[in-house]
Amino acid sequence: MAESKNAFDVLVLPGDGIGVEVTEEAVKVLRAAGKAHGLIFNLTTALVGGAAIDAEGAPVSDETIRLAAQADAVLLGAVGGPKWDDLPTEKRPEKGLLGMRKDLDLFANLRPAQVFEPLASASTLKPEVVKGIDLLVVRELVSDLYFGEPRGITRTAEGREGFNTMRYRDWEVERVARKAFEIAMVRRRKVTSVDKANVLETSGLWREVVMEVAQDFPEIELDHQYVDNCSMQLIRNPSQFDVIVTGNIFGDILSDEAAMLTGSIGMLPSASLGEGVALYEPVHGSAPDIAGQGKANPLAMILSAAMMLEISCEAPEAAASVRRAVNRVLEEGYRTGDIAERGSSVVSCSEMGDLVAGRLGEAG
Ligand code: IPM
Ligand code: MG
Repeated sequence: MAESKNAFDVLVLPGDGIGVEVTEEAVKVLRAAGKAHGLIFNLTTALVGGAAIDAEGAPVSDETIRLAAQADAVLLGAVGGPKWDDLPTEKRPEKGLLGMRKDLDLFANLRPAQVFEPLASASTLKPEVVKGIDLLVVRELVSDLYFGEPRGITRTAEGREGFNTMRYRDWEVERVARKAFEIAMVRRRKVTSVDKANVLETSGLWREVVMEVAQDFPEIELDHQYVDNCSMQLIRNPSQFDVIVTGNIFGDILSDEAAMLTGSIGMLPSASLGEGVALYEPVHGSAPDIAGQGKANPLAMILSAAMMLEISCEAPEAAASVRRAVNRVLEEGYRTGDIAERGSSVVSCSEMGDLVAGRLGEAG
């Protein structure tokens, strides 16, 4: 058997706002995990989003895409901010992120929502509803309303008209559905496919293809929910879900909702997978209101790095020890402002990073 690889080229894209702060902490934790588990990370840093617009004139340069495609993994902080809000859609920081997803064909976006036991009471829902949530949203990431043509704003005789196109090709549905089923096989073997098949043709096709793929996975229990019902079910009884598979726009919305079940969107990591390199980023945005103040919660970014360890580096022990370190720090009562409760010790973004990195050195 070939010896497993222990050195990895990682492209680090801090981006904008709190992206910069949380990325620094994730890198700190990655280094500590590397030391504890004999892994070496060769990090290259580049710009994306508003930072890239200011310095390079575009939200992501061809060179950065090239570096990403050649790397073993990409870690991305967050993009966007008020400074660039007035730019047209095509030139905005978000375009940098969307462009990377598309160019690298990162079609499956994994957004796990797990409740860390010490945070059960930080959720706005009752602890008994939240306890034991362990669900994964698999969001299609390179098609749907986000990329469908035609799109634009035109002038008509009646005035201005804005339009976007929701479209899915069968193979686009098939590949993401297959990914969701494969993942469900190593989880609790339940897939909920979310669509709006009572109204939309794209959803009708979505449902048909998901049912076709399901035939290859007889062990999986498959059900279908309309997106409006699913958004209600997530609040009513989130423990019913194992894997949720859905399209780009529905997944964008439902994954924010799922994130909040865990107490804070500052806790939710994500992985975007294709056939080649994968990209890891927190679900939260650049939070310009608290940027540069050391208040951000770096745990979503740190947990994204843990996903990278597990998936791209194939080092599940290292990933598990990062998660254990996060859990311990939370158990000890440390919190960033967004998850603070009475009696907890509020720490800064970098203190949180130090704490997690410190615990990694200890128990392993
Ligand atoms: C996300 C974000 C992005 C999206 C934005 C920043 C373009 O909300 O990753 O969920 O809509 O996909
Ligand atoms: Mg979103």
